[in-house]
Amino acid sequence: MTENINRVLAIDIGGSHIKASVLNMNGTIEADYTKLPTPQPATPANVLQTIGELVKDFPDYDRISVGFPGYVNNGVIYTAPNLAPGAWQKTEFARLLSEKLSKPAKVINDADMQGLGVVSGVGLEMMVTLGTGFGTAFLKDGILLPHLELAHHPITKSKTYDQYVGEKAMLIVGTEKWNLRVKKVIDILKTVFNYDRLYMGGGNSKKINFPLDENIKIVTNKDAIDGGIKLWRQDA
Ligand code: BGC
Repeated sequence: MTENINRVLAIDIGGSHIKASVLNMNGTIEADYTKLPTPQPATPANVLQTIGELVKDFPDYDRISVGFPGYVNNGVIYTAPNLAPGAWQKTEFARLLSEKLSKPAKVINDADMQGLGVVSGVGLEMMVTLGTGFGTAFLKDGILLPHLELAHHPITKSKTYDQYVGEKAMLIVGTEKWNLRVKKVIDILKTVFNYDRLYMGGGNSKKINFPLDENIKIVTNKDAIDGGIKLWRQDA
């Protein structure tokens, strides 16, 4: 059944900020990308309240898409390592948000959503986000593959990817050493996954200071905003 979907409210929940904008189905921005600090503690109730504030002056929208920084299945949150982790298990966030804003909502992992927004749709493409955590997504010919929480896979004897190249690690070791670490991570991803293209987003990707292979592209959060529309395009 096709439905009349004209505008989508796209929300990206991050460890430091929650960002939102309204887009029409052609990808034109109808409400500028706006952000508010992620509430502390970032419990479901507080995050819902911040989203309410963020969108209160936005134009009308028909559907909602959310990129969430944790493991999500069918709109239900299982983990939220960079928010208030204990408070999210089995939270039916798609349902809660849909009830709060009175519009149908879809919630997927944040890196998956960014990946959907930036990929070319040809071959095996990987999205990596360098922000509070280390987000990853894989897409084959534009279709999202099952989500892997690579962020929590160990990369050294004592550190996961999150702990090795996440925001906290960057602040502790400084950008020079962090860059060496990111370079090492890219070398591993290249050997293990043999992606056709790798996209690197998230706030810290602009701090990368070494030359990248030709099939690696740095993207901005704005480049990725289209993911919010793609989630609903099939229904439209
Ligand atoms: C989470 C991922 C998320 C990433 C980026 C990690 O800590 O486990 O689910 O995609 O951070 O936000």
